[in-house]
Amino acid sequence: MAKVTAGVAVSHVPAIGVAMDTGITDQPYWQPVFKGFEFSRQWMKDNKPDVIFLVYNDHCTAFDASCIPTFALGCAAEFTPADEGWGPRPVPVVKGHQKLASHIAQSVILDEFDLTIMNQMDVDHGLTVPLSVMFGEVDKDDEWPCLVIPLAVNVVQYPAPTGNRCYQLGKAIRRAIDSYPEDLNVMVFGTGGMSHQLQAERAGLINAEWDKQFLDDVSQNPVAASQITHLEYLRETGSEGIEMVMWLVMRGALDEKVTEVHRHYHVPASNTAVGHLILENHE
Ligand code: DHB
Ligand code: FE
Repeated sequence: MAKVTAGVAVSHVPAIGVAMDTGITDQPYWQPVFKGFEFSRQWMKDNKPDVIFLVYNDHCTAFDASCIPTFALGCAAEFTPADEGWGPRPVPVVKGHQKLASHIAQSVILDEFDLTIMNQMDVDHGLTVPLSVMFGEVDKDDEWPCLVIPLAVNVVQYPAPTGNRCYQLGKAIRRAIDSYPEDLNVMVFGTGGMSHQLQAERAGLINAEWDKQFLDDVSQNPVAASQITHLEYLRETGSEGIEMVMWLVMRGALDEKVTEVHRHYHVPASNTAVGHLILENHE
């Protein structure tokens, strides 16, 4: 049977991708950011997933104001890297797992979570930066080390889904993966965050104290984390801190009690507090 072995939370700051793509990761500004991922890259090699179920948000790349799905599941055979701003990153095309994605669509929708099914979807830094951070540089002409099923969550245009809805959706995704008959090592990634605001009067806002409490709660007290309101995210973590609801999809897909094997927190990376957790399910 397929098994969810671990969850990873990781920020997706686009400038981290640019730092890797332009070979400046050992500059003094970036060195401490990447130092915190050395453990993670070795851990990925030691625990090689077959499939990553990757929860991320699109930043007006695949979608624009004409169409805003709350939860969009990537069921395509492959997903082409694209991006606003810096343009597409020089990274490989992302290969999906169509059979598992279809199974998840069937299971989760009959479990009463109404997903949008994407048979074609470009993927931006929200998805490719977490892969790069965790796997290290992968040449555009090589392949990513595993298959990826993307789930795009709307955190760009209100109303975004609540943290609790995301947490409950994670549980439905876990039930779906648990009922897939092929032996697969599946990891779930929740991406984005932590505190950051990119525009208006509070641009540059970081709230390290709040972020650290969130890391503690996502790790060991997920029900409390799932109850955080939109207003609290907005007030305490800035307008883009709402991306952290995506971590709760990941957390919902894990056991109630998990082992935290790694944590990294660093300010600044671009306009963002970088946060990272690796959580392992118990056998
Ligand atoms: C930044 C962070 C993001 O999450 C994003 O999508 C774009 C930019 C930043 O910190 O610059
Ligand atoms: Fe973002």
